[in-house]
This record gives sequence, C-alpha cells and structure tokens, in this order.
Amino acid sequence: HELQMNLEQIEKGGFEHFMLKEIYEQPDAISDTYRGRMLPDKGIIRMAGVDDNIERISNARRILIVACGTSWHAGLVAEYIFEDFARIPVEVEYASEFRYRNPVISENDVVIAISQSGETADTMAAIKLAKEKGAFVFGVCNVVGSSISRETHAGAYTHAGPEIGVASTKAFTTQITVLTLMALKLAKHKGTISTSDFQFYLQEMERIPEKVKLALNSDEHIQKVADIYKEATNCLYLGRGYNFPVALEGALKLKEISYIHAEGYPAAEMKHGPIALIDEQMPVVVIATKKGHYEKVVSNIQEIKSRKGKIIAVVTDGDIEVRELADHIIEVPETIESLTPLLTTIPLQLLSYHIAVMLGKNVDQPRNLAKSVTVE
Ligand code: G6P
Repeated sequence: HELQMNLEQIEKGGFEHFMLKEIYEQPDAISDTYRGRMLPDKGIIRMAGVDDNIERISNARRILIVACGTSWHAGLVAEYIFEDFARIPVEVEYASEFRYRNPVISENDVVIAISQSGETADTMAAIKLAKEKGAFVFGVCNVVGSSISRETHAGAYTHAGPEIGVASTKAFTTQITVLTLMALKLAKHKGTISTSDFQFYLQEMERIPEKVKLALNSDEHIQKVADIYKEATNCLYLGRGYNFPVALEGALKLKEISYIHAEGYPAAEMKHGPIALIDEQMPVVVIATKKGHYEKVVSNIQEIKSRKGKIIAVVTDGDIEVRELADHIIEVPETIESLTPLLTTIPLQLLSYHIAVMLGKNVDQPRNLAKSVTVE
C-alpha cells in the first residue's frame, strides 16, 4: 500500500492532485498537439488524416459533430471555428441524442466524433450509425488505438498525454487546438481565408502556450476568489460567441468536482430566465474578453450588478471598463477572438479546482462520475 502511495506521488509530479497537474500541463499539451503539424514559416498545416481526405472533407455539405460531456463543449467551440474560417455549416449533437433520433444524414455529410478516451459508448454508437448511412467519419481522440480511433475512417489525435483526473482539462484545450488546425487547413484549401490571415493565425497559435502560462500565473489570486465563494450553493456562468461554450465548460467543471449547482448560459439569454435567480447570494462568472461582443457583455454585467449579483469577470489584460463594475477580475492575455477559449478556460478550471479542494471533495475522482463511460 505504501509503495502504491509513493508511486502515485511520483505520477503527480509534485502536484497535490492529477487535475492540477493536468491543468498545468496545458502549455506543453497544446504545443505537443500542434508540433509537426503546423509549419508557420512555410505557411502550411500538415495533418495526414485531413490531407488524405481533403476533397471529401472540404466538399462536405455539412459537418456534424458528435460527442459527450466536455468533448461536446469542444465541439461547440469548433462549430464557431469551422463556420467562421471554412464556411462549412456545422451542427453539434450529443451523441446520445443523435443515435436515437433517426437523423437525416447522407454520403455528403462529414461526421467528426470527439472523444478523449475513445471509448464512450454513445459516441461509438453514433459513429456506427453515421457509417451505416454512408457518412465519412473523422475521429479526434486522445487515447491512441482506442475503439473510436479504430472505428473512424480517418482522424487526428490530440497529444495531451494520459488524462487521469475525471474532470477533463487538457483534453479539452488540445481538442480545440486540433479542431482549429483542421478548420484553418480546410479554409486554406477552400480559399475562404486570406494567406496573410492564415499566416497570422498560425503565428498566434504558436504564442498560445506562452499565454496559457501567463494565465496560470493568476492561480494564487483565483484561490482567494475561490475562498470567498466556496460556500455558494449556485453559480451562473455567462459568455457569448466563442466563449459561450467556455461558460458551459466552466459550469460543468464546478458541478463535477465541487457539487455546487452551476449553469452556463449564453450571456444574452440571461434575460430569458436566469436573471430571475440573481440576487446578492449569486456569484456570476462572466467571460468578458476584449475581442468579441465586449460591449454587449459589459451591458450584461451592468444588468447583473443592478440586481446585486456578485461578478467574477474573466477579462483581457489591462481591461479598465469591467474592472470598475466587477467584484473580482481575472486577467488573461490578449489573443485573436477564435483562440480566446484556450485562455479563458484556464481560470475557470482553476476556480473549480480550488473550490473543490477547499470543500474537501475528491477532486480526481468525484462521486458518481467515471473517466470513461463505456456503457449507456
Ligand atoms: C465522462 C467524463 C468527462 C468526459 C465525457 C466524455 O463523463 O467524466 O470528463 O468529457 O465522459 O468522454 P470522452 O472520453 O468521450 O471525451
């Protein structure tokens, strides 16, 4: 038993939990995922699974993304990226709903299945159904040789390394990385992106690991924020555009490991329901980075403030406007809008981690949850 304990300590590499270690591994996990694929000097992206099927994928009538849990959130981010860059219509589906819905799907569709483990039963079933209907199925998995990676026609691995914590962290950011590369590659092939934008995005992607490190520097500050809100019974997460899925993911992280009820919402939808819940007891985490609907999010923040909600805002470095309105701000470096999820996710992971630790929860193995869900 003692030997077992020591082994675990070694595996955690000096971190108290796997989840924290994995949060801190993200700069490397992201660069490991794009390394060798992205050649900014040459202005190319190489991805064998995409290269070998480039016509099939870029001529897709639409792309259907199927996934579960955190991987589904990565799919939602990808929807924005693919439509924005490659101008291919995208739908994102829960694999569990898709498989039982008698979906309209044909040979002209491309299905992207996203799965960290590559073993999720519902995602697997969705793939089989899509294949039966003649669609081309592309897998984005983390575990090499997993069932889903073998069942798909082609794919691209995330190179996150083993993810042990049940709550997914580095798998999410590396999934977004792979899907961004894929969308940029298709955009270049289709001519829906200018050469200079393409180059610029690649260069900006190369700066992301360094910027994730800077985002991690807020850890101590986030711990203090966590300490203030750890007794909350509810928490609302708001974001718009590219950061709407990040709000969903932030809420999921808090639910999963701290057992605090949390909901993610597109900020503008707040007025259609959640606003009724806002009072001085309600912490509201708002993603309010400079790029993308900033002014609109600021007015959402004002609405929360006038109802005395507590505002924790994730903002771009040096922000002034939100600083004046929010109770707490957490800064992340500036980047292009489509890449902001890779940065705004970081403080939300840390916030949920610290709250769960302070509440004495089993962070790496939360109750009732499994790392890979191989049954329905
Ligand atoms: C479980 C895990 C989640 C994960 C989801 C999908 O619920 O606890 O962290 O996001 O399954 O798993 P997959 O391996 O398909 O990405």
